[in-house]
Amino acid sequence: MTTAAILTAAGSGTRLGHALPKALVPVLGEPVVVHAARRLLAARPGGAPLAALVVSAPPGHLEQFRTLLGPDVVVVPGGPTRQASVAAALAALPDEGIDVVLVHDAARPFAPADLVERVVAAVTAGHDAVVPGLAVTDTIKRVGPGTGGWPVEATVDRAELRAVQTPQGFARATLERAHAAAAQDAADESVAASDDAGLVERLGLPVWVVPGDERAAKITTARDLAVAELLASDTKGT
Ligand code: CTP
Ligand code: MG
Repeated sequence: MTTAAILTAAGSGTRLGHALPKALVPVLGEPVVVHAARRLLAARPGGAPLAALVVSAPPGHLEQFRTLLGPDVVVVPGGPTRQASVAAALAALPDEGIDVVLVHDAARPFAPADLVERVVAAVTAGHDAVVPGLAVTDTIKRVGPGTGGWPVEATVDRAELRAVQTPQGFARATLERAHAAAAQDAADESVAASDDAGLVERLGLPVWVVPGDERAAKITTARDLAVAELLASDTKGT
């Protein structure tokens, strides 16, 4: 089995509120996307390094990304939604010789190599779509619209819930089929999928969960960035 990875890094980081696109924001002196790419490239899924890494970048920053990531990483312009950015990177993978494709958010720059390897191992074992998931610790309630507020409809059974992370792993043909089937939704944030497994679910195909890792937490807000910086300096991000 040969594995390639897509790293989605084309978002603007509106909720982070930084002057730079989120993937270019420095953590411990290096851009978020450099940390993310380094950890992917350190992984040895199935005993071998990734055969290819394609990064989707903000269209106005392609040369900056190429300089940061070096000649072995392919950089393509992302699209208006995450789904479109993944589709653009998927189209840039080598035509032949890739069986497994990982899709990872640059916004999760400290996902450790062993998480990457665990996801690929589950795909190799026969699960065509695999996501890392963490148990939910908060009590979660479903609400519905009410007059002037949000009345609770139900308390959801926490044991049935997982907070899903990336990298997500797929048999290449499954991921390509899922994106092709949803291509008409890719340009519109209100209908585009927020993760790739969601597109596989829309096809009615199974998605398998493996244990996630707290180190793969997503940087969304300024607080997340501060926490990431603290944890990365504490553990050297490994
Ligand atoms: N992403 C992308 N292309 C887009 C939107 C998002 O490649 N058009 C990527 C982001 O770069 C990020 C991942 O998808 O690595 C998860 O998205 P999110 O955390 O929402 O990042 P942003 O969209 O940049 O942030 P925000 O929603 O706050 O603007
Ligand atoms: Mg976003």
